Amino acid sequence: MISKKLQDAINEQIKHELYSAYMYLAMSADCSDRNLVGFASWMRMQAQEEVAHGMRFYDFLVERGGRVQLQAIDQPPLEFGSPLEIMEKSLEHERFVTARINHLYDLAQEEQDRPAQVMLQWFITEQVEEEASIDEIVQRMKMFGADGPALFMLDRDLGARGPEDDAA
Ligand code: FEO
Repeated sequence: MISKKLQDAINEQIKHELYSAYMYLAMSADCSDRNLVGFASWMRMQAQEEVAHGMRFYDFLVERGGRVQLQAIDQPPLEFGSPLEIMEKSLEHERFVTARINHLYDLAQEEQDRPAQVMLQWFITEQVEEEASIDEIVQRMKMFGADGPALFMLDRDLGARGPEDDAA
């Protein structure tokens, strides 16, 4: 049986993951509005991944005899700035999520909840990949440009991302 403290923290994490999905979907809409078809597709895949992350926590709580309590999700912004700013905001958000995951892991250790520690190890690895794939895009934009032909090529590459791909 999971502790109340950890249950509450995981319920909060479900909210963060579902907000992440909402944020990426809003970014996708913003990109579609500017005809950045590849960016929009990439963000939409990202949103789907975030729903899957939220469901991993949801299923874990159910399996452990915990109680899922869904919380209110904030409204994401309508616009996110330039294509580079969109990616920088994504990276900043992933760093925030990483900090939340690390906090959850610390809590699981304090509570001596080993199943939660094992479950969270998947997320620790996933966050390394998430940050690395977005940082790679940010670095590419800074090095090769974030408009004109460089943006056109990046948009094309981002559009090639499949449902299971993490990287650009
Ligand atoms: Fe669920 Fe992108 O972290």
